[in-house]
Order: sequence, then C-alpha cells, then structure tokens
Amino acid sequence: MVHAHITSWALGIILFFVAFSLFKSGKEKPFKIVHMVLRLVYVLIVITGIVVVTGVSQLSAEYIAKIVLGIWTIGAMEMVLVRSKKGKPTRVFWIQFIVVLIVTILLGVRLPLGLWSMY
Ligand code: HEM
Repeated sequence: MVHAHITSWALGIILFFVAFSLFKSGKEKPFKIVHMVLRLVYVLIVITGIVVVTGVSQLSAEYIAKIVLGIWTIGAMEMVLVRSKKGKPTRVFWIQFIVVLIVTILLGVRLPLGLWSMY
C-alpha cells in the first residue's frame, strides 16, 4: 500500500505542474480538466495514506506530523491553483508548497515503512 501512496503523490505533483503550466499558457479548458483529475488524486493520496496509517500499531507524534504535513502539502497545491485562477498572489503558497513538500518527503522516508524499509 505504501507503493500506491507513493504512486499517487508522485502523480499528484506531476498533475499539479501540468495544471499550472496549462493555466499559464491560457489553456482554460484543459486546465479545468487536469485540475479536476488532480482533485481526485488528492483523495487517493489521503486514502492510501490513511490505509498505511491503519497498519501502524503505535501512532507516534511523527506519524501525526506526517499526516498533517501531507494534508498541508495538498492544501498548498490547491491554493496555488485556485488563487492563480482568481488572479490573486500565490507566492506565499508556492513557498509553503516547496518547503512543506520537502519536509513531508523527508519525514515520510524517515518513518519505518515504505521503499527503504527493506534495507
Ligand atoms: C502530497 C502529499 C504527500 C506526500 C508528498 C507524501 C510523501 C510520502 C513519502 C515520501 C513517504 C515515504 C515512502 C517510503 O518510505 O517509501 C510517505 C509515507 C507515508 N505517508 Fe505520505 N505523503 C503525502 C500525503 C500523505 C497523507 C495525506 C497522509 C495521511 C492521510 C500520509 C500518510 C503517510 C504514511 C502513514 C506513510 C508511511 C510512513 C512510514 O514509512 O511508516 N501521506 N509519504
């Protein structure tokens, strides 16, 4: 299930950049579609994350932090896209997205499950 989680957030990040570049090049309709698909992928990220969490016997503070940061990353992506659409400034949310994404990935990798657990 961790693999499904990794696949879904990787797909989410790709779709986020695709959506943003479609928006920047003024392709409104394709942007709308990709944004909709991206929102479905958000749901997949959260569901796969929750499924992974339910397999953990002892929930530590690090797990809680991982969940909060994961949701925050999604929130920042959504804010960048929605605010771009409305013509509002997005700088603060871009910064949040980059910083929180990096911390989320580092914390995710540090936690015991996942790709690196077999080594
Ligand atoms: C865009 C958002 C997210 C990113 C970039 C992300 C990234 C990651 C990464 C890199 C891992 C480690 C995979 C590995 O070790 O092979 C991971 C694991 C995990 N993620 Fe996420 N995640 C996100 C959202 C979420 C959400 C929303 C939840 C909870 C609802 C969640 C819960 C978990 C859990 C429980 C693990 C397993 C941790 C462990 O190794 O024990 N993640 N995530």
